[in-house]
Amino acid sequence: MGRVDGKKALITGAAGGLGEAMAWMLVREGAKVAVTDIDGPRAQALAAAINADHPGAAFAFAHDVADEAQWVSVIEAAVAAMGGLSILVNNAGVGGPLTFVEADTVENWQRQYDINLKSVMLGCKHAMPHLRDAAPASIINISSIAGLAAAPGMGPYNATKAAVWMYTKTIALEAAKQDWNVRCNSVHPVFIKTPILDPFVAMAGGDEAKAHERLSRGIPLKRIGEPDDVAYCVLYLASDESKFVTGTEFRIDGGMTAQ
Ligand SMILES: NC(=O)c1ccc[n+]([C@@H]2O[C@H](COP(=O)([O-])OP(=O)(O)OC[C@H]3O[C@@H](n4cnc5c(N)ncnc54)[C@H](O)[C@@H]3O)[C@@H](O)[C@H]2O)c1
Repeated sequence: MGRVDGKKALITGAAGGLGEAMAWMLVREGAKVAVTDIDGPRAQALAAAINADHPGAAFAFAHDVADEAQWVSVIEAAVAAMGGLSILVNNAGVGGPLTFVEADTVENWQRQYDINLKSVMLGCKHAMPHLRDAAPASIINISSIAGLAAAPGMGPYNATKAAVWMYTKTIALEAAKQDWNVRCNSVHPVFIKTPILDPFVAMAGGDEAKAHERLSRGIPLKRIGEPDDVAYCVLYLASDESKFVTGTEFRIDGGMTAQ
């Protein structure tokens, strides 16, 4: 028996990084997954790799999470492919250039607002009827430790990820009030080894080990995280083991915010 046997999950931004680790984890534990990404060919390649090990478990869709029409068509196609939808992981997200306020731009804010925050509303809105039908169901929003603690130069990332944290609670309470048995929680990683850290590696002259050592300095466990550190939390929240858990936040941060 897998921990998410029979569940049907849609994961956004899943062509690589954390989303890819989540997809493998959920499939290994018995779920079907729709991996969606703005990079359709990379999503297709991941689904093919998963299906080579777990035939028929993965489906891929090109999907820009900032586009409402694409949400509607991708959810419809994913529901048809998997026979329903019981887990939504709003994972797609982007950072931006480190920019102090006077040099910041509306374009930088708009991009992070669209991809980090508006996307979460669109996902919750359009997935909810299907999640209700498939209940017990779970929405997992990937925020960041940067949604709970600020850093200079990260205005739009801090603000959009903080908004995801609070919006998660709104959705959790709305679903609970209506007895839908759809739970909603947020996950807050600190630095995890994925391509999103590439700018830090570039700042360290391309020396990945040096960049990771620098990033780990403020972390009590003295290292940065692995994608599976986040994927295990997502697995728990996706499964019915977490059936009494809604509207709360999970910090995957090596003790960073305990200080
Ligand atoms: N890795 C970390 O250190 C870290 C820490 C905290 C939070 N996070 C969050 O975790 C999530 C996943 O990040 P990651 O580390 O895997 O990053 P990543 O850059 O490796 O992956 C992000 C994926 O999102 C996709 N994407 C970008 N714009 C998109 C769009 N408009 N529509 C659909 N897909 C789009 C990219 O193609 C990519 O495959 C993000 O929300 C990120 O903010 C990551």
